[in-house]
Amino acid sequence: MSGAAAAPLGKDLLGLEPLTAEQITLILDTAEPFKEISERAIKKVPTLRGATIVNLFFEASTRTRVSFEFAEKRLSADTVNVGSTGSSVQKGETLVDTARNLEAMRIDMVVIRHGASGAAQFLADRIESNVINAGDGTHEHPTQGLLDLLTLRDRFKRLDGLKVCIVGDVLHSRVARSNIWGLKKVGAEVAVCGPRSLLPNAIDELEVEVFDRVEDAIEWADALNVLRLQLERMQGGYIPSLREYNRVFGVSRERLERAPRDLVILHPGPMNRGVEIDSDVADGPFSVILDQVTNGVAVRMAVLYLLSGGRPELAEAAKSGGGR
Ligand code: CP
Repeated sequence: MSGAAAAPLGKDLLGLEPLTAEQITLILDTAEPFKEISERAIKKVPTLRGATIVNLFFEASTRTRVSFEFAEKRLSADTVNVGSTGSSVQKGETLVDTARNLEAMRIDMVVIRHGASGAAQFLADRIESNVINAGDGTHEHPTQGLLDLLTLRDRFKRLDGLKVCIVGDVLHSRVARSNIWGLKKVGAEVAVCGPRSLLPNAIDELEVEVFDRVEDAIEWADALNVLRLQLERMQGGYIPSLREYNRVFGVSRERLERAPRDLVILHPGPMNRGVEIDSDVADGPFSVILDQVTNGVAVRMAVLYLLSGGRPELAEAAKSGGGR
């Protein structure tokens, strides 16, 4: 597939930190016409016909993996899924060798989720195919950040000046980093809230407001993005107990009812119900958690389209069968 060099996002999408506000807005605007395709009876346009995309998922995923696969299939790309289980990674093959062997079969794009921070960049530097980071260690999860921004923009009709607080396990969260970079670039005000043991030591360098009490965060914010406690990345000692965490930092209906305004509630999933978020909030009237999932497909369609060299002004035409 040609045209990657001329693509408005460059060759790869590795994070939101390197993107400009204009590039982020371009992705969100390009996602808009793609939303409608998923509402059709026949959810398919020929926009990426002939493109071959490999989804390399070396860490567990439901939303991101399925969402990318739907986005690729709805754009008519040919897709192959590779996981660490059942592939030659189990026999010790390196990431680069795996990718180079796939490239020898003439692929165009790789979507990668990996447990190591920097894995997507490492791969992008070594292969010619476009690389999309679907979450690398504790570094970034750019398409999650983008779908969060799109969901907030849908709800508030603006991002500039919006007050968004990211609550919970910021330390281990690539979602937090992508949200902080993305939101700040488009003019939102960003805060974090959680126990100090779950905030990065260098939190000051991210230039965000820090709340030690969730009640103060709720009073300040227009929206809360509630993060999962990443128990699988904790070796112990970060919090006294899950019960204690819920008591002090849990986002509950009782706490939200004391807020001066109705707060929009996001969560990237998967949720620990009754730990970082209570069920009556997750399933409540101000939750946009399933809207985030729906928007994920459109955002990923937009990213695939733009990286493949698609021109933003033709995204609308792509809906009715126009190509790259
Ligand atoms: N939000 C998110 O990345 O979810 P998955 O781990 O299920 O992909």
